[in-house]
Amino acid sequence: MFHHIPDSIAQRMKWLEDLNDRLKQEGRSAAERLRQIPPDTGRFLALLACSAPVGKWLEIGTSAGYSTLWLALACTEVGATVTTFEILEEKAELARETFRLTGTNAVVNLVVGDAREHLSDCRDVAFCFLDAEKDVYRDCYELVVPNLVKGGILVADNAISHKTILQPMIDRVLADERVDAMVLPIDRGELVCRKR
Ligand SMILES: C[S@@+](CC[C@H](N)C(=O)[O-])C[C@H]1O[C@@H](n2cnc3c(N)ncnc32)[C@H](O)[C@@H]1O
Repeated sequence: MFHHIPDSIAQRMKWLEDLNDRLKQEGRSAAERLRQIPPDTGRFLALLACSAPVGKWLEIGTSAGYSTLWLALACTEVGATVTTFEILEEKAELARETFRLTGTNAVVNLVVGDAREHLSDCRDVAFCFLDAEKDVYRDCYELVVPNLVKGGILVADNAISHKTILQPMIDRVLADERVDAMVLPIDRGELVCRKR
């Protein structure tokens, strides 16, 4: 999966990494920036997704599709597909370009809109990556967990970088007997939950 990343995907990843850095250096607003995960988080997500049980894969917060590309590599590895939700049309347009240029359309389904309006309809979820605005994490978690299959995995980004704002949600997850969970010190901090 990591040894032979197709050129089109490697090139688009590099282009998005450079764009992400440039927009950050220019001091652009949160809405303008891509706010994408670092590469090691992408590798971690791909490895974990490959170990998930059979079922649907979800991503909440597509931005320009960088993290989705890591999940797409995992999809190709194990024959899965991923549905990714993005609320902003400008970001969705960049993501469409990402999936078109990399030929990942076959394994990625992009849904434009508020993920919260769709999550209760997404049954039999085996893997979910949560990376949206922090004030919707709790709602998304509560919508996804009942639909996780046994052994299904939910990962939430920014559990350390946004610890203060996310602490009530993290406390809720750690005390939630439907899942086993812990925060891993990978990049910005990954809250990893496994449905019991
Ligand atoms: C941190 S960025 C995602 C970065 C992306 N996962 C990556 O690493 O390449 C968060 C994205 O979530 C989107 N978003 C925020 N709230 C959302 C919601 N309720 N439903 C769907 N997308 C949402 C934002 O527009 C933004 O593009």
